[in-house]
Amino acid sequence: MVELALPKNSKIGKGKAWPVMGEAKRTKTFKIYRYSPDDGENPSWDTYTIDLDDCGPMVLDALIKIKTDIDPTIAFRRSCREGVCGSCAMNIGGRNTLACTKGIYEFKGDTIVISPLPHLPVVRDLVPDLSNFYEQYASIEPWLKTSSPEPVEEWIQSPEDRNKLDGFYECILCACCSTSCPSYWWNGDRYLGPAVLLQAYRWLVDSRDEGKDERLDVLEDPFKLYRCHTIMNCANVCPKGLNPAQAIGEIKAMMVERA
Ligand code: SF4
Ligand code: SF4
Ligand code: FES
Repeated sequence: MVELALPKNSKIGKGKAWPVMGEAKRTKTFKIYRYSPDDGENPSWDTYTIDLDDCGPMVLDALIKIKTDIDPTIAFRRSCREGVCGSCAMNIGGRNTLACTKGIYEFKGDTIVISPLPHLPVVRDLVPDLSNFYEQYASIEPWLKTSSPEPVEEWIQSPEDRNKLDGFYECILCACCSTSCPSYWWNGDRYLGPAVLLQAYRWLVDSRDEGKDERLDVLEDPFKLYRCHTIMNCANVCPKGLNPAQAIGEIKAMMVERA
């Protein structure tokens, strides 16, 4: 089972409140999970109220504004700001998603609650520890494996075969799906989870890859693959509109075919 890095018996306490600065006609309050492993304190919910007329439209804009103008100690990851790097994944309003593609305007009410991706150890504030997730990704050997002689120019793939990668190559490894999956919550040390299994399928279905049997051998395990119970949280939550459960089903079908 995944161990959470919070202090034993810790409760999330009420934290600091930062009211809006100056006059503001339109405001929104962000209730944000704060935790630092260094100070020995329990986590807390800090609240920040900002002027929406002085902020960009996305939740990430609000976080950047809070960090820049109000509280520089708040920690979160981000890079591309356009939904392609996956680093700003967090739980916003009770749902895992990307802060940079989630509009503030999509939330009704005065307050938006933000916490780190669930069921992962927390490094600090909104930054989860993804070490296990990346180790699992490395375990599926996410690169082209070939045994044929190297082609003179390139490995050729027909347009039809290339199309088979659609719906899978777009995955940005944000981990929104895996951290929404109850099976992954409880067996994340052994079950590979939807994101990594979708990536595994992306290589299994690649017509240029010649490591299919070897790849299936690695996945033939009661925990790595077979902990998916088709609950479908993964497909419901993916910010790129992908369907990891379908990929998992396809891998299971490949297992049956070769049996
Ligand atoms: S369908 Fe499978 S992988 Fe997706 S959330 Fe459910 S159990 Fe997890
Ligand atoms: S399948 Fe979707 S939710 Fe899962 S890691 Fe890839 S992009 Fe993120
Ligand atoms: S900052 Fe890259 S996906 Fe959000």
